Amino acid sequence: MGPVKRICCIGAGYVGGPTCSVIAQMCPEIAVTVVDVNEERIQAWNSDQLPIFEPGLQEVVEAQRGINLFFSTDIDKAVREADIIFISVLSNPEFLAEGTAISDLKNPDRVLIGGDETPEGQRAIETLSSIYVHWVPKTRIITTNTWSSELSKLAANAFLAQRISSINSISALCEVTGADVEEVAHAIGTDQRIGNRFLKASVGFGGSCFQKDVLNLVYLCEALNLPEVARYWQQVIELNEYQRRRFAARIVSCLFNTVTDKKIALLGFAFKKDTGDTRESSSIHISKYLMDEGAHLYIYDPKVKKEQIMQDLAHSTASPEDLERGLSLVSIASDPYEACDNAHAIVICTEWDIFKELDYERIYKAMLKPAFIFDGRRILDNLHGRLQQLGFQVETIGKRISQCLSFTASTISQLDLQAPPLKKIKI
Ligand code: UGA
Repeated sequence: MGPVKRICCIGAGYVGGPTCSVIAQMCPEIAVTVVDVNEERIQAWNSDQLPIFEPGLQEVVEAQRGINLFFSTDIDKAVREADIIFISVLSNPEFLAEGTAISDLKNPDRVLIGGDETPEGQRAIETLSSIYVHWVPKTRIITTNTWSSELSKLAANAFLAQRISSINSISALCEVTGADVEEVAHAIGTDQRIGNRFLKASVGFGGSCFQKDVLNLVYLCEALNLPEVARYWQQVIELNEYQRRRFAARIVSCLFNTVTDKKIALLGFAFKKDTGDTRESSSIHISKYLMDEGAHLYIYDPKVKKEQIMQDLAHSTASPEDLERGLSLVSIASDPYEACDNAHAIVICTEWDIFKELDYERIYKAMLKPAFIFDGRRILDNLHGRLQQLGFQVETIGKRISQCLSFTASTISQLDLQAPPLKKIKI
């Protein structure tokens, strides 16, 4: 096979769009076409309002679109003309994290290509490698058999999720002992064998990948008769749900054991900062728990649209009656000050930088007293002293600050905080 001239990628979502945009930028001699059956999505890729937000993406798309980067619904044509089609040609798992997808693509820790050991499989591996060598050092291109490659993807996400559940489990212990989880994370993270990344205690991990991939691993282990291994990984998910419930229970407990008819400002709905993606976001779970307790939620997120928030909350309710009642308790605010006006409490669920820079004096004055802040992301650590001086009662993950931590494990179980049922996903 001669040099690759045309690439076709099927699927213009969070992975296909950014990946192909960077390939087009890095390989100017190759025409890259991203196809999708969803016309609206393709139109958006061809417009100024890209369908996803990712720092640096707009610039790459604008530089290449119409030159060697194309978005189309004509799947047949693109597939017919392509030298490489990105869809199970090989196993080429991506390791992009949302919010940093462009830099992950441009400077990856590794590129993993798995294929079978036949001559055709090996040739396919070489062809795909020839694309990546345009910008990735050869030493970082790892080639394996297909199973190793597929399992590496699941295992990488499972290990990352496990680290978060591990530190979140320690955060619970910190709150009752008086330790500070940030100090513990720093102390253990300086051990180079452990490392300091993915040790940020939080309101629980979200996103479309971690839960799905850990559950895939659980399913695989069960199917292959490895029940002990399946249970081990299942616990990573269960701890994550516990962390969300625990946080919601703490809010209720601090607000004098009831949030019924109280106004709560929920800041951040995306599953992490720098993305508009809400899939499996902990904010959905926290909102649902508080709605079930009768709280009035005023939600603000800089990148998530109102329709998306309403749709996510609607999907998490069990019956049409619950839906009507639940949604009548939710308002979407157009800025954080509006959300906090006359609120009893602020709940930070996503670590958006702008939440560190709000005028908290102004916010405090406009809130009902006592005014609470629940920092589910530990983003206000540097401000705790000042916030307390202003009069706020500050509550945060993994650290005991105010005295309202009177809640216990029994408070958590008293609340009807049922997590939505887990779906097992086949691969
Ligand atoms: C994750 C992996 O990090 C990527 O390597 C992988 O390619 C991707 O899944 C995928 O399978 O496609 P992503 O889900 O975009 O990427 O985001 P992460 O940065 O991993 O964050 C996941 C969740 O964990 C977020 O809710 C984040 O807030 C939370 N998190 C992360 C913590 O609570 N604490 C941390 O220390 C780190």
